[in-house]
Amino acid sequence: MKKDFLTVTDFTADEVMDTLQLAIELKEKTKRGEHQNFLKGGVGALIFHKQSLRTRCSFEVGFQQLGGSSVYITNQEIELGKRETIHDVAKVMSRYFSVICIRTYSHKDVEELAYHAEVPVVNMLTDLLHPCQLMADMQTILEKRGHLKDLKVTYLGDGNNMTNSWLRTAQRIPMHLSIGTSPDTLPDADILQETRNSGISKVSVHHNAVEAVKDADVIYTDVWASMGAKDQIDTKIGQLQPFQVNMDVVNAAKKDVLVMHCLPAERGREITADVMDLPNTVVFDEAENRLHAQKAVLVKLLQG
Ligand code: CP
Ligand code: NVA
Repeated sequence: MKKDFLTVTDFTADEVMDTLQLAIELKEKTKRGEHQNFLKGGVGALIFHKQSLRTRCSFEVGFQQLGGSSVYITNQEIELGKRETIHDVAKVMSRYFSVICIRTYSHKDVEELAYHAEVPVVNMLTDLLHPCQLMADMQTILEKRGHLKDLKVTYLGDGNNMTNSWLRTAQRIPMHLSIGTSPDTLPDADILQETRNSGISKVSVHHNAVEAVKDADVIYTDVWASMGAKDQIDTKIGQLQPFQVNMDVVNAAKKDVLVMHCLPAERGREITADVMDLPNTVVFDEAENRLHAQKAVLVKLLQG
């Protein structure tokens, strides 16, 4: 049966760890200039309804490095669900492509696409979740720390698709996930509850940034207004200013805390420029690992 990657929980804990290990191996091979023809002749569809730097480039380069290729498709071409149904698009694309990757607004649309597609579907970001980013982030922590055990990860800022993705990851990798946000910007209530119910990780929610980051191994943040909701920025600034990642917050965490951000960052807003440029800030390693983690996800989906 074909497998999709719409959320980190589409993989078991063992599959997540195997994929991260493969990502690290593929990265070493890439750096040594070794060919990795896992997807020889395979072609991926890359459907984008939102902007992207990292995701588009890392998927396109990834397909090439794996011996395959990709086709970039925007809403201009297919108008998913409008020009024709998601069902029909899924059926047609399954006849051309080895895998369909999509970045769009509605997570339900992606679930519908995956339901009807006969090839694997990869979520390249929805309003609800961004699982490919989390695989790159976990790879980065694994490389920097050598393990993923007993981590305290503090997410500061908007309760958005990144926060929800951390919650889903905490259903597979045991951690203390501490979320610092305002009462009006909480993550998805169902995902928060299902993570608590899973009993894999400790989840705490704080409305005070310094309290949230106490003893943190990782501080993570993201933009306060996501794509599709940029017009809400003024409201978000009012709600989230106390949760900015600045030197006061960094100094309240562990001395060797890793500072992470999925990027793009708005320097001076959710994260100060001095924190962005600290030696312990690993945002460009995360961006680099998008390439390797996604290649590993593709290999797992297409080769088992
Ligand atoms: N982090 C991330 O997904 O970046 P892009 O939006 O540039 O793809
Ligand atoms: N929360 C951000 C993540 C960008 C990678 C957004 O959805 O715009």
